[in-house]
Amino acid sequence: MFSLSLIVLLCASCLAKSLEVKYSFSKAVGGGSGTSFSTEGPGGIRAVRVWEISSAYITGIQLKNSSHWSPLVGKKVGTALEINLFDGETISQISGKYHTNYIYQVIFVTSRGRLLVAGQPTQSSFNFYPHHPKAELKMLSGRFNGHGITSLAAHWAAAYSKK
Ligand SMILES: *[C@@H]1O[C@H](CO)[C@@H](O)[C@H](O)[C@H]1NC(C)=O
Repeated sequence: MFSLSLIVLLCASCLAKSLEVKYSFSKAVGGGSGTSFSTEGPGGIRAVRVWEISSAYITGIQLKNSSHWSPLVGKKVGTALEINLFDGETISQISGKYHTNYIYQVIFVTSRGRLLVAGQPTQSSFNFYPHHPKAELKMLSGRFNGHGITSLAAHWAAAYSKK
C-alpha cells in the first residue's frame, strides 16, 4: 500500500515537472535612452541578425522565427552579422559590453556552443543566462534611439515540447 502510493506520488510529481514552464529574466544593462522595444521570434527564435558601427556600438538587432523576420529594432548599418540555428539549437546565453550610452558588443551563444559576435570589447561586461537548464532565449527588450541600441534585457523560458 505504501509503495503504491509512493509510485502514484512520484508519477504525479514527474508529470507536473514535464509540463512546467520555467521563466527567467536577465535585467537590462545600458543607459536606456530612447524608445522602449520588445522583440521575439513567435514560436521560437531560429535566426539572429545584428548590425554594428565598426569600432563603435550596436545599431540594430532582428530576430527570426521559422519563416518571418520580426520588425527591426534600431537601424541597419552596413552588412548584417547573422546566425541561423540548426534544428533543435537554441540561444542559451548572451554576453557583451555596454556603457551608459550604448550597447557596445553582443555575443549570442547557442546550445551547440556556436557564437555570433558583434561590436567591440570595450566598456563594462554583461552576461545573461537563463535560470533553468532547458530554457532558451524567447524575447529581447530594452531601448534604442536614432543611432543605436541603448539598453538590452533578455527573457528566457523552457523549450516548447516538440511534437
Ligand atoms: C512566425 O512569425 C510570423 C509573423 O509574426 C507568424 O505569422 C507565424 O505564425 C510565426 N510562425 C510560427 C511557427 O509561430
